[in-house]
Amino acid sequence: MASESQQSSSQGPTSTASGPEAVLRLPGEYGSTPIEVLRELRRRHGDVVAYRTLFGEVHLFSHPREVREVLASHNFIRTPLVKTVLGDGLLASDSPHWKRQRRLLAPSFRDARVEELVSLFGEVFRARMEAWPALVEGGAALNLARQMELAALENGTRALFSASVEERFLDDFALVLRQMGEIGCGAAFGASLVRTPEANREFKETMGRIEEDVERIIADRRADPGGAPDMLKVLLDARPGPGGAPLTERQLRDEVVTMLVASHETTAVTLTWASYLLATHPTAAAELRAEVRGVLGGRAVAAADLEGLVYTRMVVDETLRLYPPVWNIAREVVNDDELGGVALGAGAGVLISPFLVHRHEEFWEDPERFEPRRFEGGEGRFQGALAYIPFASGRHLCLGRRFALTEAVVGLATMAQRFRFRLREERAVEIDPLLTLRARGGLWVDLIDARDEGGAGT
Ligand code: HEM
Repeated sequence: MASESQQSSSQGPTSTASGPEAVLRLPGEYGSTPIEVLRELRRRHGDVVAYRTLFGEVHLFSHPREVREVLASHNFIRTPLVKTVLGDGLLASDSPHWKRQRRLLAPSFRDARVEELVSLFGEVFRARMEAWPALVEGGAALNLARQMELAALENGTRALFSASVEERFLDDFALVLRQMGEIGCGAAFGASLVRTPEANREFKETMGRIEEDVERIIADRRADPGGAPDMLKVLLDARPGPGGAPLTERQLRDEVVTMLVASHETTAVTLTWASYLLATHPTAAAELRAEVRGVLGGRAVAAADLEGLVYTRMVVDETLRLYPPVWNIAREVVNDDELGGVALGAGAGVLISPFLVHRHEEFWEDPERFEPRRFEGGEGRFQGALAYIPFASGRHLCLGRRFALTEAVVGLATMAQRFRFRLREERAVEIDPLLTLRARGGLWVDLIDARDEGGAGT
C-alpha cells in the first residue's frame, strides 16, 4: 500500500486529453463519500474525467456513448479485486473459462421456472411478514433492510440450490462484502485504507465459515442427488473439463459463492429503496396498492399476474434508476487505448457509474425526481440508449436480471397486500455505497396494517 505521507497535487482532476494530473483522496476536496465525489467530479469536469489515486490512474466515463464502448470492448476487463471472494466465478472472470461457465449456467435462468419462482418468492415474503408483528411489539421499529436481506438470501438459496442457510450466513457475507467494498472504494476513490491484522484475520475466518457452509450445501446434495432441477444440479452434472471431467471442487465452490453474492444483496437493496421511496411518496404508494388490489384482491401472486402488475414493475424500474444497487462498474485497460478523446494506459482503471448515468440530464427529464411513470411503455428505449444500465449491458449483462425483477415485483406486491411502511422520523436514511448501494444503518419503519384501512388486502 502507498504511504499515507503522499500528498495531493494542487491541480484538480482533468477532463482533457492531457491525462490525469491530480491525486484524488477521500475524504477530500471532492467530498467525503464516494457518491459525493462522483457527483462532484462530473459536475466540475463533465462526462470524461481522469484522475489518479494512490493506487493508480482512473478514468470515469458518464456518457452512454463511452459506456457502450467500455461494456462492449474486450480491451476493458474486470479488475482482480473481487476474485478474493469469488475466485474464478462468473461474476469475477473474463476469460474463456467465463464464456464456458456462462454457456453452462445461462439456461438455468430461462423462463421455464418462473411459475415455480413466483410461488416460492411469495411464500418466503409471506413467512417473513408473519414474524413482523412480534418484532415491533411494544412500539419497536422494524429494520426493513435486514428483513429484505433475509428474504432475498432465502429466495436465492432455495431457488438456486434447494437449500437453506442460517441467519449467521448473512452477517458473514455482510462482513466480507463490506471489506471488499472498502478496498474497492480505496482503489477507485483514494479512500484511505488501513488494513489491520485483526481485519485480515476476521476476513479469513469469515471466508472459512462461508466456505464450510457452501461445502455443506454441495455435500448434502451429493448425498441425496435426486431432487430439484436447480442450478446446483446443473453444476454437479456438468462435464466441461478435458475428457468430460466434472467441475473441480474449487470451480463448484466459486460458482456457488458467486451466485449467493450476486443474488441476495442486490435484490434486498432494491426492495429496501423501493420501500423507502414508496414510504416517502404516498401517492405512488396508493397507486401501487390500488393496482395490487385490482389484480390480486387478497390472493397470492401467480406467474400470470406479473404482466398485470404494470405500475409495481415501474416502481421497481424507477427504484433501480435512482438507487442502482451496482452503482459502480470497474474495469481495467488491457492494452493502451483511447476513449472519449483521452489516452488510456494499459493497466489504468476505468469506472462507469450507473448512479451518474441514470441521472444524466441529457437523457432524463428532472432526473432527481421519483417518477415511476417515466417507464410507461417499458425500460427498453432507455436501455437501448445505454442511459439505463442497472444490470449492465453487453456480454456481462446480469444473468439474474429476470430472476431479480420477478422477485422484486412479487415482494412489493405481497408486502403491499399486508402492510404499509412509515419511516421512523428520527433516523435519516443515507446511502452507504460499498459493494452495493446499501441504506446506512438499515431502514427503520413502523408497520401500518394495510388491511385495516381498506388497503391492498382483502
Ligand atoms: C436488482 C438485482 C440485481 C442487480 C442490480 C444486478 C446487477 C448486475 C450487474 C450490474 C452485473 C454486471 C457486473 C459486471 O459486469 O461487472 C451483474 C452480473 C451478474 N449478475 Fe446480477 N444483479 C442483480 C441480481 C442478480 C441475481 C438475482 C442473480 C442470480 C440469481 C445475479 C447474477 C449475476 C451473475 C451470474 C452475473 C455475472 C454475469 C456475467 O459476467 O456473465 N444477479 N449483475
